[in-house]
Amino acid sequence: MNILLIGSGGREHALAWKMAASPLLTKLWCAPGNAGIAKDAACVGLDVANHAAVIDFCKANKIDLVVVGPEAPLAAGIVDDLAAAGIKAFGPSREASQLESSKGFTKDICKANAIPTAAYERFRDAVAAKAYVRSQGAPIVVKADGLAAGKGVVVAMTLDEAEAAIDALFAAPGAEAVIEEFMEGEEASFFVLCDGEHALPLAAAQDHKRAFDGDTGPNTGGMGAYSPAPVFTEAARERTMAEIILPTLRAMKARGTPYKGVLFAGLMITKDGPKLIEYNVRFGDPETQVLMVRLMSDLVPALLAAVDGELKHFDLRWHAEPALTVVMAAKGYPGDYAKGTRIDGLDAAAQVEGVEIFHAGTKADGDKILANGGRVLNITATANTVSEAQRRAYAAIDRIDWPDGFCRRDIGWQAVKREQAGS
Ligand code: AMP
Ligand code: GLY
Repeated sequence: MNILLIGSGGREHALAWKMAASPLLTKLWCAPGNAGIAKDAACVGLDVANHAAVIDFCKANKIDLVVVGPEAPLAAGIVDDLAAAGIKAFGPSREASQLESSKGFTKDICKANAIPTAAYERFRDAVAAKAYVRSQGAPIVVKADGLAAGKGVVVAMTLDEAEAAIDALFAAPGAEAVIEEFMEGEEASFFVLCDGEHALPLAAAQDHKRAFDGDTGPNTGGMGAYSPAPVFTEAARERTMAEIILPTLRAMKARGTPYKGVLFAGLMITKDGPKLIEYNVRFGDPETQVLMVRLMSDLVPALLAAVDGELKHFDLRWHAEPALTVVMAAKGYPGDYAKGTRIDGLDAAAQVEGVEIFHAGTKADGDKILANGGRVLNITATANTVSEAQRRAYAAIDRIDWPDGFCRRDIGWQAVKREQAGS
């Protein structure tokens, strides 16, 4: 099979690394890719916003399957256009992508189907929004509607913070807000493959969204992750499937927009059970990096089964060992940062036992590796315990010479604390 992967992040490097090992693969392409992906795939500078150009590329290169990494091309309908041209593509249609692109859409699906989530109201103006938060009290959560890459959310601990967030949000013309009940608990990311009707659970992971140690600093796309997520017990998984995932799939099918692809449920594990924070219609980044090193089975047949509506009797095998990944980012991220700074020591770092290095924002300059984005590297380790995986990841990081980068030093702290308490 010839496969085209779309994207350029650490998530795509992990997917490329996994698919490159598939016996079904003839040739893997990636558009646009990065310096690490270039070792597993042929990188090509396609304009993925130009669907006609992507279709031409697929026909010219006899692509059997397109795998779409990020949400933007999905929301732009790339899967619909490829399907119309007779090309198989893994990912949801434009309509089904609204589960991520519109928080209001998802909230309405939840309400209509009694899916557990935070109570909410939608607003188009600041006056009504402020009156509502005053009536509800703090803590309360203020969200901008639309794709905001995880950055349009303020968890306000006081009414003053909530009102400031509302003012900031409505400073943008045409803004819409979703204001939600604050849910207390521990978060987990759960991934499920879907074929329009059936769901095949993958695994859960825990992400670290804040930039700095101790879960402080600004929100980011994710600074590290580990899998499995101890808080996501077998009972939590069963409830999530029965109360959240399957009702969503039934609702999407009933409205004529069946969901195919990977469904990423951001969950709050509360004292009353799992509740949906949000859906994403793609693999998580950096969660995918820990999922792919734990996945024992071939990924390619599972992606094909999702596209072909044949997940019903599908099964996947997983390594029991936990995996942990630490994101190295350019200093200044998630704010302004420099590009083009040099990174050394990657080969020595990759020698640490159990370590796999996935590239995110990198580019090659001859035999040198340069930073080319905010999140730049994912140092991923597996071991018998999260504590040992953490030790391996940081041992590898200590071999990397990149004065212009930084990482958190406490990735996995919740799981490590649990292990220490249990030993
Ligand atoms: P989102 O972009 O919706 O995933 O929100 C970003 C982060 O804000 C989440 O990962 C949570 O940490 C937090 N958050 C969002 N909604 C809520 C909520 N209703 N209650 C508590 N925390 C929330
Ligand atoms: N790590 C969170 C996300 O991919 O959205």
